[in-house]
Amino acid sequence: MFNISVLVSGNGSNLQALINAESKLKNWKIISVISDNAKSHALKRANVSGIKTYKLDRKENLSDQILAICKDKTDLIVCAGFLSILEGDLLNDFENRMINIHPSLLPDFGGKGMYGIKVHQAVIKSKVKKSGCSVHYIDGGIDSGKVILQKSVDISIKETAESLQKNVLVLEHLAIVEAVDKLVDIHTYLQNEKLHCLNKGK
Ligand code: GRF
Repeated sequence: MFNISVLVSGNGSNLQALINAESKLKNWKIISVISDNAKSHALKRANVSGIKTYKLDRKENLSDQILAICKDKTDLIVCAGFLSILEGDLLNDFENRMINIHPSLLPDFGGKGMYGIKVHQAVIKSKVKKSGCSVHYIDGGIDSGKVILQKSVDISIKETAESLQKNVLVLEHLAIVEAVDKLVDIHTYLQNEKLHCLNKGK
């Protein structure tokens, strides 16, 4: 069983999508939900589902606190609407095992200041024909890690930032589950290969 910790700051609808998916017999399990905002609705969702929660202070070496919680039991960290920047040893310890979901087709409309409705306002203003969401690995930058998967949606003439946000969120809920499934499968395969090689003395 692959253990997942989910980092949240707000409403937690992406967390809910993961919780709902987990109930359909997955080879992964959410073992903790960590929030940098004590008032986030995501914490209530976790509590209802009986998942262990942690409320952390943004100002107190946040990444080190997350590392201390996740170090021993977590296989994959999923940032689902998590607004703080991660840094330090956490990035090294969880290299290729820490992912984020972003509400645009990266590398477009990502980076500093691109979060929440601001992303969708910028998309509408630019008059592009498509938007969507991206799940990507977390590296030292903002929304700069390698993209794992994307889902896109056409933008209609009447589209507003608000309607686009709603449309993209529906895609996010599918993308986050698909990305977790994909990564868990890859890591499980690699672990089995490693065991196989060890057993054969390679
Ligand atoms: C999502 O649009 C996510 O991509 C972004 O913040 C929003 C969080 O939504 N990073 P929720 O908290 O999962 O409902």
